[in-house]
Amino acid sequence: MSVISLLFFLTLHHGFLLASPAVDQFTFDGFAGANLLLDGTAEVTADGLLMLTNGTTLLKGHAFYSSILRFHAAASTPRSFSTAFVFGILSEYADISSPGLAFVVSKSSNFSTALQSQYMGLANAANNGNASNHFLAVELDTVVNAEFGDMSGNHVGINVDGLKSVVADNAGYYDDGTGAFRNMSLLNRTAAQVWVDFDALTSLVNITMAPLEVPKPKRPLLSATVNLLSVIQDEAYVGFSSSTGVVSSRHYVLAWSFRMDGLAPPLNTQKLPGLPFTIPKRSSKMLKILLPIASAALVLALAITVIVIDRRRRKYAELKEDWETEFGPHRFSYKDLFHATNGFCDERLLGIGGFGRVYKGVLPASGTVVAVKKVSHESRQGMREFISEVVSIGQIRHRNLVRLLGYCRRKRELLLVYDHMPNGSLDKFLYDHSMPVLSWSQRLGVISDVASSVLYLHEDWEKVILHRDIKASNVLLDADMNARLGDFGLARMYDHGTDPHTTHVVGTMGYLAPELGHTGKASKASDVFAFGVFMLEVACGRRPISQDEHGDHFLLVDRVVEHWREGTITDAVDPRLRGDFAVQEASFVLTLCLLCSHPLPSARPGIRQIMQFLDGNTPLPELSEAHRSVNMLVLMQNQVVLNSHSLPSTVAGNISDIPGAR
Ligand SMILES: *[C@@H]1O[C@H](CO)[C@@H](O)[C@H](O)[C@H]1NC(C)=O
Ligand SMILES: *[C@@H]1O[C@H](CO)[C@@H](O)[C@H](O)[C@H]1NC(C)=O
Ligand SMILES: *[C@@H]1O[C@H](CO)[C@@H](O)[C@H](O)[C@H]1NC(C)=O
Repeated sequence: MSVISLLFFLTLHHGFLLASPAVDQFTFDGFAGANLLLDGTAEVTADGLLMLTNGTTLLKGHAFYSSILRFHAAASTPRSFSTAFVFGILSEYADISSPGLAFVVSKSSNFSTALQSQYMGLANAANNGNASNHFLAVELDTVVNAEFGDMSGNHVGINVDGLKSVVADNAGYYDDGTGAFRNMSLLNRTAAQVWVDFDALTSLVNITMAPLEVPKPKRPLLSATVNLLSVIQDEAYVGFSSSTGVVSSRHYVLAWSFRMDGLAPPLNTQKLPGLPFTIPKRSSKMLKILLPIASAALVLALAITVIVIDRRRRKYAELKEDWETEFGPHRFSYKDLFHATNGFCDERLLGIGGFGRVYKGVLPASGTVVAVKKVSHESRQGMREFISEVVSIGQIRHRNLVRLLGYCRRKRELLLVYDHMPNGSLDKFLYDHSMPVLSWSQRLGVISDVASSVLYLHEDWEKVILHRDIKASNVLLDADMNARLGDFGLARMYDHGTDPHTTHVVGTMGYLAPELGHTGKASKASDVFAFGVFMLEVACGRRPISQDEHGDHFLLVDRVVEHWREGTITDAVDPRLRGDFAVQEASFVLTLCLLCSHPLPSARPGIRQIMQFLDGNTPLPELSEAHRSVNMLVLMQNQVVLNSHSLPSTVAGNISDIPGAR
């Protein structure tokens, strides 16, 4: 330690720091006992070497002079400064190394967010080059990094705020005698000296380097104009930054001097501690070839990982709110449903309804076969009530109801998970002529199955559940061809003995009771209306609304009413049965259909009564002609107009169920 620095430390210890001009100059001929700010891998070794990195890969280290220095004179003009240091790099390999080290003049001594490897402990990918970094660095770089435009694996550069050099050149010096350029190797395990001189008048930074035995060359290796005060502002720390990449290497500073407003004190290069040559030299031919590939591959792999993770996050993103914890057991993860349905692929598509697509799925954990219905929904309003209803409905067990197993919520999407019914929906059997014809007795069975499920929903469960969308396509057939009412996507429940609330009118055209257009109130009677239309479908094998040869729409109900008036009601029975049915029974069922789908709600029987009729315990009441004279189609079309204002997505979705309306 020189006399000057000793003086400095004495003044420091006596608290004269601010007043003393000695703070502008220091010399370390070896660092034993030096007062430095060290972080990371940086340490002063027992031999008095400042070791910035210790050979462990992918780490960084910094060493700064302990006090901040004033880089401006009065009137905010910058001050000249000059520094000299001796450095040495010991790499595990003879010809490749980790990035290197840098002399730094920095507003902050905190580089905790900086990265190792090619970032040399100076910056990170986000802030590299950002003017808010406030540093000037002189890098001694032993690795070519294309991203920073590095020229070679043996270069010196002047950097401002980042790793991309303002100017750079291969390590070396200009011979004072001949003027010739002499290459130097940063990696030859030999200490070398560097001078950094900033001239306040010209704003020029000069970098000069030379082997230890060569005095400071007159011609600098490189120069750049730097507006120093705008980079570091008024005060700054001076010191060194270094980091390792994937190659084990150590970066040392052996001696260092600094001076404001003048030339750095010369270093005593004769008396320096030697570099420890303990690391064996290894050939790195293969590594040299593989390393750039490996690091490129690593960067690529990282990028891909980030993209993949982000994609997965988005792909499986769900909407989950605090209140849903109580429904936990009924909540499915989107990821499971995604895998269960093979990514909702078309091969798994069971059907497309007015409210969404239904997919077949196999739950990964249990192997249970399920049907997953994707319903799009925009509003989150009432979602809590809706989910709580879905979950309560899910607790209902009845042999003629498709079990609702649970749900999952995503942005704009609700997924409902049901038991899968192997024979699919009833409407296929009714309308797809490639399917086997259902016999009359099978049809009666289906009607009575569905009637008993509606009875359960309306009367026998603890609350009243209105299904609101009874129709052939919502009736599913299990493996034994038993009918089960499914799709509670629209169901609403209320307490027995109370009035259902007015809600948006939902359901499917052709099944909507006429009073719904006026009252907007779903009721048991409106479910019975839909049930009547459903029975007609089953008995007649026709859709509730069809088109005649002139393209005019007509209602199945109206057609059956005509037959009834003419006394030929059984002519309405599905012709595919080829008359293979009991006429008495058919006439009875069709009359019951007309009773149920009566325009006046009060004229419709309740579901318990319907069960009694079907069981043959109670005779049917008279069907009165006067009540049937209403033109139902006109009523229904009025509904569409009414509802299309309030419910664009749901009713509009179902208008497409009318043939010709597509
Ligand atoms: C280098 O320093 C780090 C901590 O900064 C330490 O974990 C590591 O063991 C050191 N490596 C060697 C070789 O001493
Ligand atoms: C630079 O860093 C500042 C502060 O960290 C930040 O606000 C700004 O957006 C960054 N600029 C660029 C171009 O990244
Ligand atoms: C100095 O080294 C560079 C690359 O490291 C090489 O291209 C150049 O030819 C060398 N020059 C001399 C004079 O050896």
